[in-house]
Amino acid sequence: MRLNKYIAQSGIASRRKADELTLQGKVKINGAVMKEPGYNVAESDVIEVNGHIIKPDSKKIYIMLNKPKGFITSVDDERERPTVMDLISDIDERIFPVGRLDFNTSGMLIMTNDGDLAYKLSHPKNHIYKTYRAKVSGQISAERLARLRKGVDIGGFVTSKAIVDVIKQSERSAVVEIKIYEGKNRQVRKMFAAVGNKVLDLERIEIGELRLGHLKQGHYRKLTQKEIQYLKEC
Ligand code: URA
Repeated sequence: MRLNKYIAQSGIASRRKADELTLQGKVKINGAVMKEPGYNVAESDVIEVNGHIIKPDSKKIYIMLNKPKGFITSVDDERERPTVMDLISDIDERIFPVGRLDFNTSGMLIMTNDGDLAYKLSHPKNHIYKTYRAKVSGQISAERLARLRKGVDIGGFVTSKAIVDVIKQSERSAVVEIKIYEGKNRQVRKMFAAVGNKVLDLERIEIGELRLGHLKQGHYRKLTQKEIQYLKEC
């Protein structure tokens, strides 16, 4: 983060005023005067303004993104593929995605700089259900449905009970809503594969009681206070 922004976020001055203070030699970094307003502040730097150590306000940000297919859920990608960060443009805080959606999965992704909440939402011990709408190949028989609900072996791991509803059954495919609270890699795809159905399309539509609603793919919005409160208390 640039020095002037760091100072502004500490609440003591606007960015412009921060520039003035810096040029006047009133800002020190690790004990030495720093006159470059554009200096990039490192995590370990100690910043003083007029002799007082300052810290930027740790403002928490909570965003709901409707991730399209074709984006990696990561802050960066060594193979330089598009990441979900490429979809976020006007947020100054360093946010990160909570949990992961596959490259080819679309739907709800929470992004935040609140590590505690991210941990809470991701940890299976908290039983926070994530709801996926899956289009799968073939028929979903009552027997397959029962197996998915009870838990299936996805390769050395037996999934916990899931809530599964068939929304539509056509001749060659079905639309199924599945709620799980674990987050194993490609879990939903593996669960359907375990009972003999291939996932053709996968979208996450809910996290706990939070709904994706009409948020368009590639768009995002800040969570409301009520939604944030809910996530903190659920
Ligand atoms: N399960 C999957 O298989 N993929 C996802 O992206 C999320 C859950």
